Amino acid sequence: MKIFLDTADLDEIRRASQAGLIDGITTNPSLLAKVAGDRAPRDIFLDICREVDGPVSAEVVAIDADGMISEGRRLAEIHENIVVKVPLTEDGLRACRTLREGGVRVNVTLCFSATQALLAAKAGASYISPFVGRLDDVGHDGMELVAEIREIYDEYDLETEILAASLRHPKHVLGSALLGADCATLPPAVLYKLLRHPLTDVGLESFLADWETLGKGL
Ligand code: G3P
Repeated sequence: MKIFLDTADLDEIRRASQAGLIDGITTNPSLLAKVAGDRAPRDIFLDICREVDGPVSAEVVAIDADGMISEGRRLAEIHENIVVKVPLTEDGLRACRTLREGGVRVNVTLCFSATQALLAAKAGASYISPFVGRLDDVGHDGMELVAEIREIYDEYDLETEILAASLRHPKHVLGSALLGADCATLPPAVLYKLLRHPLTDVGLESFLADWETLGKGL
């Protein structure tokens, strides 16, 4: 399963990328607003693309298909790694189809049902982003949505990649991996929670203490 970092924070992106932990980046307007200051979105996307050798999702903000298509084309021109993110609306799917015909990769976002995901795949989406945590927030089971999409895409040989999103904790990531999601996008805090284990820390501490008793360097 590919792991993407869900942030526009360049320091976090650099840290994870240099450690070889991530395969790409996803952003959304809210994440951009957190870090932008007086910088133009275009410059932020360019910096991210230079840092990460993998797909970088950049979201349109128009809500009509023509507007999304024109914004999507402008975003795609920024860098070859850009994947244009469009919302799962009727206009979003129209824009998806047109952008894909022009060779632009599209991530269809804000997916909350398997039937939405089916329509996105038929519109040629490169990625579908089911929002697991936000479904859990309203008392549904977000992981069940990932399972349903996997089953449908496998049944009909649909090539759209499932990009599990709105993941809030390591169990969401584990669930996505076990269910066969193609990718998972995580906030930095969740990424490092995957990495750490208290028994690793305890084990390392005792190895180092025992080594000290040798009184010699390597
Ligand atoms: O990738 C989508 C993600 O950014 C949404 O996450 O935590 O705002 O639901 P969250």
